[in-house]
Amino acid sequence: MTEPRPRVWVSQPLFDDIVGRLKAHFDVRATEDVTEYTPAQVADALRDADGALVTLNERIGADEIAGAARLRAIANVGVGYNNLDIGALTAAGIVATNTPDVLTETTADFGFALLMATARRITEAERWLREGQWRQWSFGTLLGADLHGSTLGILGMGRIGQGIARRASGFDMRVLYHNRSRLPEGIERETRATYAGFDDLLSQSDHLVLVLPYSPQAHHLIDAAALAKMKPTATLVNIARGGIVDELALVDALANGRLAAAGLDVYEGEPVVRPELLALRNVVLTPHIASGSLATRRAMVSLAVDNLIAALGEGDAAGHPPTPVNPEALGAAHAGNIIATKRQGA
Ligand code: GLV
Repeated sequence: MTEPRPRVWVSQPLFDDIVGRLKAHFDVRATEDVTEYTPAQVADALRDADGALVTLNERIGADEIAGAARLRAIANVGVGYNNLDIGALTAAGIVATNTPDVLTETTADFGFALLMATARRITEAERWLREGQWRQWSFGTLLGADLHGSTLGILGMGRIGQGIARRASGFDMRVLYHNRSRLPEGIERETRATYAGFDDLLSQSDHLVLVLPYSPQAHHLIDAAALAKMKPTATLVNIARGGIVDELALVDALANGRLAAAGLDVYEGEPVVRPELLALRNVVLTPHIASGSLATRRAMVSLAVDNLIAALGEGDAAGHPPTPVNPEALGAAHAGNIIATKRQGA
């Protein structure tokens, strides 16, 4: 009797030609429609799956995997993976993977675009023009803040933060960064970025870009107290995760002249955006699209597919997914049946 093929669940429509590569190895269950799942539906979809290809929409923790006795790998399409409870997955011997590197330059491009749109009030100006408010050229219309010659602060100096710093040198900006750990001197030199303490970064930046990963420690790191340390003329750009900023404190600062403007690509309750933010004129709001160029989104899906194939022990790189986030679970994933039995008994 031939062994049944492993089963994988693909949670959202991605790129059929790329996801189709999974079919050479697995029985694939995919959806044609963008779908919003309840936690129970995610648990249900994982119940008989050996692997899953998911996006940041799908939150997967202990409850969702409790009945997923066969599950050995979850490939997240995204560099951030705060939708996954890595502790719970590792404890259950499930490998998680993400998609770093392939999105670095595209995301840094977007961070810069959002910064420019925010500082120079580009979307606000367009709205104003479309509303028919432009009656005569005037000297004081929609005056913004310069990028060139200003100080750019980068909070979180990983690959994307470094990409933003490299772009900033072309604009003749002074770059400060704050990170959990200081970067090697060679990288500081190459990115022309100077390390600063958190408070110095806040108080000296004319523009502050958030690029750090979300973690419980980073929750509301930018709160009322942090915002109060920033220049009232400063702009804040968030392309990391919404939960890093206390949005109500941000609204208060923007509405009361304690911060000039903000550019947000991510939100605490996305896809719901607070009405208080929507009502403000000095914010640029985009729907979490920083990595959204066609080429990069395709590269992300391709990497996630490679990860899933390898993590489930198939293909040329069997057992060696290119970008695992919990490599310690790899051995366990390959003793798939033992783990499955353990979980069934649990
Ligand atoms: C998108 O936000 C990602 O983490 O890739």
